[in-house]
Formats: sequence, C-alpha cells, structure tokens
Amino acid sequence: MLRVGYPAVFPVELLRDFPPEVELIPLPDDLDHEIEIDVWLPDPYPTRAMRIWPHLRGVRLILSLMAGTEWIPGVAGPHVTISKARGAHNTSTAEWTIAAILASLKYLPFYFEVQQAGLWKRRFESPARYAQMTGDERPIYPPVMVEELTGKRVLMVGYGEIGQEIERMLAPFRVDLVRVARSARPANSGLLVHAVSELDNLLPQAEIVILILPATAESHHLIGARQLALMRQGTLLVNAGRGPLVDTDALVAALNSGRIRAALDVTDPEPLPEGHPLWSCPNLLITPHLAGSSPQFAPRALKTAADELRRYIDGKPLCTVVQRAG
Ligand SMILES: NC(=O)c1ccc[n+]([C@@H]2O[C@H](COP(=O)([O-])OP(=O)(O)OC[C@H]3O[C@@H](n4cnc5c(N)ncnc54)[C@H](OP(=O)(O)O)[C@@H]3O)[C@@H](O)[C@H]2O)c1
Repeated sequence: MLRVGYPAVFPVELLRDFPPEVELIPLPDDLDHEIEIDVWLPDPYPTRAMRIWPHLRGVRLILSLMAGTEWIPGVAGPHVTISKARGAHNTSTAEWTIAAILASLKYLPFYFEVQQAGLWKRRFESPARYAQMTGDERPIYPPVMVEELTGKRVLMVGYGEIGQEIERMLAPFRVDLVRVARSARPANSGLLVHAVSELDNLLPQAEIVILILPATAESHHLIGARQLALMRQGTLLVNAGRGPLVDTDALVAALNSGRIRAALDVTDPEPLPEGHPLWSCPNLLITPHLAGSSPQFAPRALKTAADELRRYIDGKPLCTVVQRAG
C-alpha cells in the first residue's frame, strides 16, 4: 500500500478526496525519527517542511500544495518527482494584487491613519502628497484625494497562471497592459508577451509594475537600483511573487527618496525582522506573505494533489509536474 505522509496539523477531513487505497501517515512538526513513505505532502511553510525532510526515507513523489516550489529541488535532490498545486493560489493572489493596487491608489493606509487619529481635516494632506509623489504640480480643484486605476499603464512581469488571472481581473479597469515573461511570444501568436531581456526598455513607460514570477537564479534582484532608477516618478511597484526578485537595500533607498511607492506581499528577508528599515519606509504597504492564504486555498490545493495521486496510482501521466525524477 502506498504510504502518503502529510503534515499532522492538517485536519484529516481535508484529505477526504485522497484515493482510499493509500495509507495516510500524519507527520508531526517535531518528527524525530526516520520514517518510510512513498509520497510526501510538505507543509506549505517551507521552514517547517525542511525540518521534516531529513527524517523521510523512500520518497518518490512530492505533491507540493504551493505554486512556488523553488525550495524543493535543492532540498530533495533530483531523484524525486515534484508536482505543484497548480491554480490553488490563482484567485486569492490575483485578488490581493488588485486590492493592493487599489489600496495604494486610493491612499487607504493613509486614510486608516486619519481614521485612527479621528482627524477629518488630515484629508487635506492628500493633494500635497499626490503632487510630491507623482510630480504632477498642475493646479487642480477640487483637491486630489485619491487616484484612479482605470486607464493606467501596467507592466506585468511574469505571465503564468496567476499573471493571467490578474489580467482577467484588471480587464474592467481598461488598463494599458504590457506583459513580460522569460521568453517572448510574438503578437501574431495571438498575444504579445515581451522577453525579460526587454525589461529595461519597458520600465520607464509603466505607472504600475507587477511582479508575479518565481525566485530563481535568473530572476534574483531582477529589480535593482538601476531598474528602480528607470521607473518614472511615482511608479507603484507591486511584488506578489517572491522577495528576492527585488534588491531590498535599493528599494529602501528608492522609497526613502520619495521616487516610487510600493506594495509588497513578499520581502527579502522573510520574515521581515522587527526594526528592519523596510517597515518604516514611506509610501509602502506591506502584508506578511499571505496573498494566497484564503479559506478556499487548502481544499483546492488538496483536490489537485488528490487528482495527481490518483493518476500516479493508475500509472497515468501527471499533470502538474515541475521536476521529473532523474
Ligand atoms: N504571494 C503569494 O502568496 C504567492 C502565492 C502564489 C504564488 N506566488 C508566486 O508567484 C509566482 C508565479 O506563480 P504562477 O502560478 O503564475 O507561476 P507560473 O504559472 O509557473 O508562471 C511563472 C511566470 O513567470 C515567468 N518567469 C519565470 N522566470 C522568469 C524570469 N527569470 N524572468 C521573467 N519571467 C520569468 C514565466 O515565464 P514563461 O511563461 O516564459 O515561462 C511565467 O510567465 C510563483 O512562482 C510564486 O513565487 C506568490
């Protein structure tokens, strides 16, 4: 019987779609002895999963519940097959991206401060903040209290599953969207996607830059001091991908100089330590890596894993493989 190890913190009812012919083995967080399993569902938090891995023997298939699987090959090596929970995060992460953009353009973090202070008149700080951030010094009346997303020029770096979901959700805002991925897809393929090698030429036109790609050796510090300097005054940088995509020191400098603004669900380092300079940067919205963590996530991810396991048992090709056992 196939032995499937899963994090003991998971309520077993969540595994109800798993094939009945497997033996489900709960793996406690403090596992301290070797254990033989065939299939491993790692804890979605990599640090917890990495503590378990040294005790596992015989693993042939890893069914990741996360879309980001970057850490697994380095830990598990090339002799295991790795599948990811394709699609499980799409809705929630895309919604976070839209929420973060709208919150930033509607100055919600500032207005929450106003609410907490109970000082209605502080709203009149907004026009000056707007002029300073965007460089738009035109006399405007009535005063600017919020900005609009509709019609903005958006550069999306990473055009995979989540990127495409973000595009669908952005559609009602009629933004001017420019797509970037690892490799280009020509317009005659039905959809123009630029190669990442063109990034420096595309950055100066964007008003919003969305990062939704994995952290790899190639994407490390994709946004560094040079790219930040190429962005126009007031650009909103939104990172829903991974912290190391951005050079944090360069980002702190750009935010403190008032050139750009940002919304980050992911940071480097993570967790962001108490007292880190990012915490106190102006014009920055941080959420502590939670964009994909809705109540719908676990049932969706486990359903994908259950379907993949069914195929594995039946000897059918797996659908969401990111690494085949070498
Ligand atoms: N914040 C969160 O809670 C959260 C939740 C889920 C996922 N994520 C992150 O979001 C990432 C994207 O997820 P996904 O499901 O959309 O992944 P995906 O379907 O695998 O798509 C990844 C996209 O990134 C592009 N890409 C890869 N390396 C690149 C590089 N060096 N330069 C430019 N583009 C590159 C790929 O280009 P090609 O199309 O040319 O291959 C593809 O378009 C995940 O890897 C994860 O890191 C974050």
